[in-house]
Amino acid sequence: MEQLKVDLGSRSYPIFIGSGLISAADCFAPYVRGRDVMIVSNETVAPLYLEKLEKTLSGFNVHSVILKDGEQYKNLDGIESIITALLRNDAGRDVTLVALGGGVVGDMTGFAAACYQRGVDFIQCATTLLAHVDSSVGGKTGVNHPLGKNMIGAFHQPKSVVIDTDTLRTLDRRQLSAGLAEVIKYGIMWDSDFFRFLEDSMDSIMSLDEESLVRTIKTCCSIKAEVVHEDERESGVRALLNLGHTFGHAIECHEGYGVWLHGEGVAAGMVCAARVAVYLGRMSEDEFRRITALLERASLPVQVPADMNYDIFYENMIHDKKVRNGRIRYVIPDGIGHAGVLDDIPAELVSRAIEDLRKKC
Ligand code: NAD
Ligand code: GLY
Repeated sequence: MEQLKVDLGSRSYPIFIGSGLISAADCFAPYVRGRDVMIVSNETVAPLYLEKLEKTLSGFNVHSVILKDGEQYKNLDGIESIITALLRNDAGRDVTLVALGGGVVGDMTGFAAACYQRGVDFIQCATTLLAHVDSSVGGKTGVNHPLGKNMIGAFHQPKSVVIDTDTLRTLDRRQLSAGLAEVIKYGIMWDSDFFRFLEDSMDSIMSLDEESLVRTIKTCCSIKAEVVHEDERESGVRALLNLGHTFGHAIECHEGYGVWLHGEGVAAGMVCAARVAVYLGRMSEDEFRRITALLERASLPVQVPADMNYDIFYENMIHDKKVRNGRIRYVIPDGIGHAGVLDDIPAELVSRAIEDLRKKC
């Protein structure tokens, strides 16, 4: 088992990575404050892993709540169901919520934990690649609004993060690819050596080779832990983790939550950002081709939807959380391995990038 730490003073927590960890009581029990545990999962993940996790937590008074599966259910109704279950079970302030699922369950559980009785503890037991490498770490929690993705939420750090690599064996290929978008993101925005490792290892990662998977997840979590340690509340460097997300969230919101997966939107969004970088002289055509080639090898989209022109992107992007004084702030790569936040990109240039990348009908 590998172990990392997110260093946030009194709110520090461990990240455990390895095979079979859903059954490892040591990754959970020391982080449960009282006697009551509420596991939050969904109708797809619960039949696969709930019983196993209940067994691991059998020394506690364990209840569960099962949500509907899908990004379209990541909303305030879902939060109300979690809170109703807590109240029905007379859960007090010492209850610990455990998120058993991907990013949707993790974000919702964390937000319910942040709200219930003004804040209770929670643990992330992440079951998708995207959750392993990104959403389970860093304490961003929340839900969507019909007018904007993740527009309602709170920063609330978990007490521990448990990444059982075996869970990837039941995940479908499209979801695995969606997680790879966030993996590739770290290479582009932070670590060119890691990008090269991904170019060398994409085939073994996609065939779920354990050694490649653990190295990949560990590298992503270390980068995320470093960034979150430096800037927990996104007043600076953490914004770089949103590479591709401004364009990607616009695609997710416009096409309908759940139609494009989050990671697919991020992949196409990173290509938009990379194209803009080429026009700005921050990236060579060769680097641009390496990025699109790696995304394609991971079976990810490298074009934007045919029905989305610049005006449609703009309408959706103007609600982005990085907007300041009415200006959209874009994360734009600087070659491979670095990125910056720019707020002065001419609209014509973004529009040109989108037109270049629009799927031809
Ligand atoms: P998801 O949670 O919807 O999971 C994808 C699908 O896989 C679902 O149908 C789920 O039921 C299923 N599933 C989960 N684990 C499984 C397993 N082991 N075996 C079989 N099926 C399984 O999607 P996701 O990609 O994990 O997360 C996307 C969400 O994460 C988005 O809402 C996004 O906004 C959020 N996110 C949050 C952060 C953050 O920092 N909080 C970062 C990135 C993304
Ligand atoms: N996924 C972006 C962040 O956690 O900041």
